[in-house]
Amino acid sequence: RSDFTLRGGSAAKVLVLGAGVAGLACAYELGKAGYDCTVLEARDRVGGRSMTLRGGDVVSELAEVPGSGAHTSAPVPPLTAGTPSPGARGETQRVTFGEGTYFNAGPARIAQWMVTLDYCRELGVPLEVFVNGNAAAYVLTGGMRAPARVRTARADAYGYISELLAKATDAGALDTRLTGADKERLLDFLSHFGDIGASHAYSGGERRGYRVDPGVGTGAELGPPPPLTDVLSARLGRVLTMDAGYEQAMPMFQPVGGMDAIVRALAARVGAARIRTGTRVTKIMNRPDGVEVTVEGGASLRADYCVAALPPHLLAKIPGNLGADVQSALATPVPLSAGKLGLEYGRRWWEIEDRIYGGATETDLDIGHIWYPSYGFHGERGLVVGYYNTSQDAEAYDRLRHRERLRRALVQGAKIHGRAYAKGILAAVSVAWRRQPHIEGAWVRWPSMSGFSLLQRPAGRVYFAGDWLTHLIAWQAGAFESARKVVTELHHRVLKES
Ligand code: PHE
Repeated sequence: RSDFTLRGGSAAKVLVLGAGVAGLACAYELGKAGYDCTVLEARDRVGGRSMTLRGGDVVSELAEVPGSGAHTSAPVPPLTAGTPSPGARGETQRVTFGEGTYFNAGPARIAQWMVTLDYCRELGVPLEVFVNGNAAAYVLTGGMRAPARVRTARADAYGYISELLAKATDAGALDTRLTGADKERLLDFLSHFGDIGASHAYSGGERRGYRVDPGVGTGAELGPPPPLTDVLSARLGRVLTMDAGYEQAMPMFQPVGGMDAIVRALAARVGAARIRTGTRVTKIMNRPDGVEVTVEGGASLRADYCVAALPPHLLAKIPGNLGADVQSALATPVPLSAGKLGLEYGRRWWEIEDRIYGGATETDLDIGHIWYPSYGFHGERGLVVGYYNTSQDAEAYDRLRHRERLRRALVQGAKIHGRAYAKGILAAVSVAWRRQPHIEGAWVRWPSMSGFSLLQRPAGRVYFAGDWLTHLIAWQAGAFESARKVVTELHHRVLKES
C-alpha cells in the first residue's frame, strides 16, 4: 500500500544526483510512475547522512575541516606534517563493534507526525520506540554541584514554581488577572502540578525518587529538596524541556536494527543497477533538449531532467550553467557542525546500576547529550552515544583526532557516571559531519531566506531537493517532503509537455 502516488506514468529519463534520503525518495517515487532514473552518488555507500555504523565499517574523514578558516575562530591544528590538499583523506576509523551492535551516526529519532513513518509503513520497515525523554536519566548544568535524575530536578522545579505561584495568588498579587473562581482553579492546578498540598509549600515527596525503592518496606525517600536558590541556580529550563518540543515529544520511533533500514529499503526498490556509487558529479549543464551531467573521469550522461539532491554548499561548487542567481542561492545556506560518538560497552551498567533504559542525559557540557540505547535491553553489550553535540562544541570536536575526542568525552561523561564510565569500552567510533567526504555538514542554516524560494523552482531542467529546502531542516522527513514536492512538479511538467 502506498500513500503517495503520481497519477499517470512517463518513461522520461531522470538523473538524480545524490543517494541520500531526498535523492533515493525521488528515484523511488518516479520509478513507481515508470520513469527511467539513474542515481549518481559520490560516496561508496547510499544513504548520505542516514548512516548506521556496524562492525566492519570504515569511516574516513577529510584531512581538514572544510572552510575552517572562514567559519571557525580557532586555528585547525595540523593532523599531519604539511598542509593537506582540499578534499584529501584524513583519519580513517575501522569500526569493531560486535554482532548486533549498531550506531546511528546521523538521524536516530522519528516523531509520530513525520512522513518518515509513512515511508516505513509503505516500505515494510519495522519500528520500535525510541526513548527520547527518560525520567531516570540525568541532568547536569554548570549551576549544579552534582548530576540529578531528571525526575528529581523536575519535581523540585515544578514544586518550587508551584509554591511561588500559589503564594503570590494567596497574597493577592494576581488579583488583577484572576477572578475568585480562577484563583481557586489555579490553586487546585498547582497543588497537583507541584505536589505542594494544602500548605502551598513544597517539601519534596515521592516524585523525587527514592534512595531505596519501595518493596516489602515503604522505601527510603531521597530526603528534603535543596533550597529554592539552588534549584534556580541550576538553570534547569532548557534541560528539563528537551522533549517538550513538537519534534522531540515522546513517543518517538526508530527502525529496528538501524536507521539505514529506510535508505536500504528505498535503494532496493529503486534497484541496485540504477544506483552508481563512487561517482562524483563534476558538471551540470542544461541543454535545449535535456540535461547533461559530467562525472569524474570525464564521462557524461544525458537525461530529460535532473534532480540535484546534494547538500547546497557542495552543489554550489559544481560548475555548470544554472545561472548566477541560482549559483548564489546555492551558496547561501551555511553548513553546520554536529558530531556523535558511539561507545560500545561489554556490560550494560546503565541498566544494571543506574536503572536507565533508553533516553538521554542532558548537559551543558561540550558533549551535549549522552544517549542510552533504546534497543538490546539486557543484552551482553550496548551502544551508548557518548556525545551528540552541535555548534561550537561540535566545531571543537571536529578539529580533534578520534582518540582525543574519545578521551575528552570520557572525562566529561565521568562527571555524570563516575570513573566506571571509562571502563569496559570495547569499541568506539566518532563522526564529525563537517569532515565527512561529499557531505561536509550536519545540516545547514539559512542566514537569510534569500534564494530559498528561487530554489523551490527548477533551474531549466534541473530541480533541487533536500531537507535544506524545507522548514524541516535536519530531519529525514524534510528530505521526504521535498522529494514528494519535486517529483509532483516534475511529473506535472512532463505530462503537460508530452
Ligand atoms: N533532527 C536532529 C535531532 O533530532 C537535529 C535537530 C534537533 C533538529 C533539534 C531540530 C531540533 O537531534
